[in-house]
Amino acid sequence: MEWIERLRRQTRQLHQTAHALPFFQALWGKTLPLESLVGQLRCLAVVYGALEKQLATRSSRDPFQALLNGHQPKLPLLLRDLEPFSRPAVWDILPAVEKALAAADQILTTSQENETALAGFFYTLEGSTLGARVMAPKIREAFPTLNAPGSHFFSVYGNGLSTRWTAFLRALGDAFTDPEDQENVIKASRDLFQSLIAFYDALYPFTEGKLGRHVVSLNPEAGNHPIPSDCLELEAALKAAERCWEAFPYFALRYGERGRRFADSDAAWLAALCDLDGGTLLEQVRWLSELLSVRGMPTWLLETQIRFLHEELCHARPDQRVRFDRLLVAADALRSLRWAAPDQESLNRIVHKLRERFPVPPDSPWTAVFVVLAAAAADRDSGIAGGPENICEWIRATYPEDLSVIDAVEAFFREPLWKRF
Ligand code: HEM
Repeated sequence: MEWIERLRRQTRQLHQTAHALPFFQALWGKTLPLESLVGQLRCLAVVYGALEKQLATRSSRDPFQALLNGHQPKLPLLLRDLEPFSRPAVWDILPAVEKALAAADQILTTSQENETALAGFFYTLEGSTLGARVMAPKIREAFPTLNAPGSHFFSVYGNGLSTRWTAFLRALGDAFTDPEDQENVIKASRDLFQSLIAFYDALYPFTEGKLGRHVVSLNPEAGNHPIPSDCLELEAALKAAERCWEAFPYFALRYGERGRRFADSDAAWLAALCDLDGGTLLEQVRWLSELLSVRGMPTWLLETQIRFLHEELCHARPDQRVRFDRLLVAADALRSLRWAAPDQESLNRIVHKLRERFPVPPDSPWTAVFVVLAAAAADRDSGIAGGPENICEWIRATYPEDLSVIDAVEAFFREPLWKRF
C-alpha cells in the first residue's frame, strides 16, 4: 500500500489549494450566494453523473467490482437535493457549468482510452465525500432559512463513511501493483482535482453577467445544448414534456426517472429550435426522429411531443405564434413521412385489432406498448427500420414472464402493416 501514501502525498498540495478557494472561505464566512451553493450541487451532478455512468458499464469486473463494493451512487442524492431549486429556477453560473462539463468530458474520453485513469477519478471524487462532514454543518449555518440544502449528498454513507473509505483505499491499493498503472491513477486523480478546483473557482466570486440558464439544471446528463432563455417558453416546454410523459406510459416503463429528465431537456431543446429558420428546424427534427425511432421511440411520439409543445408555447406567448408555427410544419412533415399509419386514428385501429387478437389484462404493460409497437411498425414500413425489433428486445429482457405473448406479437409485426390491416 506504499503507493497509496504516494497518491495522498501527491494530491495533498491540491487539497490545500481547494481549502483556500474563495468559495469555501465565503461558505465558512456565511457570505456564499445561493447561486454558488446550488451551482456546486449542479456541477457535482454533472461530474458524478459522468463518473457513475462509466463505472456502471464496468461494475461486474475487477478492479471496479472491488472498488464499487459498498459504493453509494451520488447522482440520485444530488438530484434529490436539487429538487427544491428547479422551479423557480436558481440561475446557473455559466462558466462554472462549462468547467464541470469539461471535467465530465475528461472522465468520459480518458476512461475510454485508459481504464486505469477511471480509478484515479474515482479516488478524487469518492475521497471528496470525506469533506462532507465538515461542509454539511457549515451549509446549514450559512443558509438557516433553507431546509438543509444538499443534506442527502453531504450525508452520504452516514456513520459508515470511514469504513467505506478504508475499504475503498484497501481495494484501490490491491488493484494496482504495476508502477506504471499506479502512476496513471495518480495522474488522473491530480488532473480531476485540478478540474474540480477550476469549477469551484468559477462558482465564486462571479458577476451578474455570467448568470444564465443552462440545460444541466434540467438534466445534468444532457451535455451542452441550447434551451430557451425566456422563462415562459422554458416553462411551456416543461409542461409539454410532462403531458407527453403522461400520454405515453411506455416512457416511464422503459426509461424511468432518467428518461423523465431527458424528456425535459429534449423538450427545451425542441423549443429552442424555434429560433432557427424553418428549413434547419425541419432538418434537425427529422434527424432526431430517425435517431429516436431506431432506438425504440417511434416518430409518432416525437410528433405528439411537438404538437403539445406548440400548444403550450402559443398559450404561454401568443405574441410569438408565428415563430412557434415552424414546429407545426415539422410535426406535419413527420406525419406525412409516416405514410404507413400517419394519424392517431389509423394507429388506434391497429391497437384495437391487437387487443382483440392478444387479450391482455388492462393493467399489463402491453396496454402501453401496443400503440408504440404499432407506431414503430408504421415507421419501419415508411422506411425507418429497427424500431419494432428494438422494442421487442426490451420487452423480452424486462418482462420475461410474457415470453409466449412477445413471440406471437413479434411474429405478428414481422409482416408489413398493409398485409395485416
Ligand atoms: C475540490 C475540492 C475537494 C476535493 C476534490 C477533495 C478531495 C478529497 C480527497 C480525495 C480526500 C481523501 C484523502 C485521502 O485520505 O486519501 C479528501 C479528504 C478530506 N477532505 Fe477533501 N476535497 C476537497 C475539498 C475539501 C474541503 C473544502 C474540505 C473542508 C474542510 C475538505 C475536507 C476533507 C477532510 C476533512 C478529509 C479527510 C481527511 C482525513 O481524514 O485525513 N475537503 N478530500
